[in-house]
Amino acid sequence: MSGGSESVSIKVVITKDYWEMSRLAARIIADVIRSKPNIVLGLATGGTPEGCYRELVRMHKEEGLDFSQVITFNLDEYVGLPLDHPQSYHHYMDVHLFNHVNIKRENIHIPDGTAEDLEKHCREYEEAIKKAGGIDLQLLGIGRNGHIGFNEPGSPFNSRTRVVKLTETTRRDNARFFGSLDEVPTHAITMGLATIMEARKILLLASGLNKAEAVAKAVEGPKTPDVPASILQDHPDCTFIIDREAASKLKGRYEKTFSDER
Ligand code: PGA
Repeated sequence: MSGGSESVSIKVVITKDYWEMSRLAARIIADVIRSKPNIVLGLATGGTPEGCYRELVRMHKEEGLDFSQVITFNLDEYVGLPLDHPQSYHHYMDVHLFNHVNIKRENIHIPDGTAEDLEKHCREYEEAIKKAGGIDLQLLGIGRNGHIGFNEPGSPFNSRTRVVKLTETTRRDNARFFGSLDEVPTHAITMGLATIMEARKILLLASGLNKAEAVAKAVEGPKTPDVPASILQDHPDCTFIIDREAASKLKGRYEKTFSDER
């Protein structure tokens, strides 16, 4: 049996811990790269996918996983941070993935929060995704408030790439990466919910007790813009790979990658 209610279409896989979550996600991504070397990947930042990227780097170095034809589009970026700022998502992606694999620089796309005309830049980002043939596999994290990308609660389900104001919850959650709350930017560029939903396959990762409520609401709660990730219930191929702690508030029974110890 799987799923908590009739309408649930999100597949959930519960892993023992963060590292098992990371390895499983990396294995799925590596498999799709091997089956389609010029795959278009949608990528996420934050603490959650770091282990997955570390595993992909290991696979590149030890197993020859080839990124030479891979095309990437990142979900989001802060507005106003220089691209080489240590907390910019440009910098994050270089440090955690791009500097360590054989991806071509011209195949990397990350929204530019320093663009002079941000609205035009957002339109062009959408165009670039279309021109690349659309996103084959989108990797996501989830915020404690249920956000995906920087689509905060209240984001319309039909939203596209745009400039958004960050909520205080998100700014406070991300302040740990900055010197102080004041240094966290107030705005960001994010792919919209409609942009994300157009990806052919979606993998959402979540780890830890502080994500349990958002995960339960996204998977088993009502579909509502108050919980942006709940829109994923309508996606035909969406899998949540989450560790036991992040799964602890789910009521339904789901696939586990480990046997329960007693
Ligand atoms: P985190 O962020 O991985 O740093 O917890 C996830 C998110 O806000 O999407």
